[in-house]
Amino acid sequence: MSYNLLKGKRGIIFGALDENSIAWKTAERVHEEGGTFVLSNAPIAMRMGSIKDLAEKTNSEIIAADATNIEDLEKLVDQATEILGGKIDFVLHSIGMSINVRKGRHYTNQNYDWTHKGMDVSALSFHKVMQVLKEKDAMNEWGSIVALTYMAAQRVFPDYNDMADNKAYLESIARSFGYFFGKDNKVRVNTISQSPTPTTAGKGVKGFEAFINYADKMSPLGNATALECADYTISLFSDLTKKVTLQNLYHDGGFSNVGVSQDVIEKFE
Ligand code: NAI
Repeated sequence: MSYNLLKGKRGIIFGALDENSIAWKTAERVHEEGGTFVLSNAPIAMRMGSIKDLAEKTNSEIIAADATNIEDLEKLVDQATEILGGKIDFVLHSIGMSINVRKGRHYTNQNYDWTHKGMDVSALSFHKVMQVLKEKDAMNEWGSIVALTYMAAQRVFPDYNDMADNKAYLESIARSFGYFFGKDNKVRVNTISQSPTPTTAGKGVKGFEAFINYADKMSPLGNATALECADYTISLFSDLTKKVTLQNLYHDGGFSNVGVSQDVIEKFE
């Protein structure tokens, strides 16, 4: 259902790779709610994914940018404001990658070059995006910036590997940068801590199938889907949440506050 919640709002959406991506679903929902946006992803993702289909469907343009590269980000922000015809109201950072995870390196045996790269892509890129937006004064007052995170930032999930540290860093950047963005520009910054979701990045985590089923059985409302995450993100981009900022918001069917569920207990009886 559409409520025109984002009518007249302009944004940048990072991280739509294919139709499973959380950013893909968010772009579709933003379009339905009347928002306009530019899609961005790393140059290599343009070749791998099907972002062009999404751009056609949502009447949006694609601008390639490596989110770790300041020059790329500067060009992106300049072009986006030109194409969209004004300053930005919303930004989705839906970017994550760990080479240690991808190559199966154990957390206690990391390749630190890969660790640095993963940290840059998954966490520091969020700071870079916001710094470029702020330096260029490209955000409208009461704009909203959201990044996606996972609860491994707070609790141990052994196979989440160095992504746990990257997410802790990402969440801290949201608070620290959000303070200045709020004070100086009335822009809000939040992270959404999403349930395990079957996407390219999600399925890269070892034992993902068992893990997603476990989370589903632990959550009183069941796992949150990518589309439900998109809906939640829309609410944070809308004017209905103007005073929500510096928060890490759990969107996980209740998982994060459950010690153990009856469904899981029964497996051990
Ligand atoms: P996805 O694989 O569809 O999206 C990840 C995106 O990051 C891809 O589009 C990829 O091209 C992009 N990316 C990688 N390196 C980049 C770079 N240097 N510059 C720009 N973009 C780059 O997977 P998903 O799940 O939609 O991931 C989106 C976000 O959601 C990530 O931050 C992920 O950690 C987070 N998340 C995912 C969960 C899951 O279980 N799938 C759970 C909680 C959070």
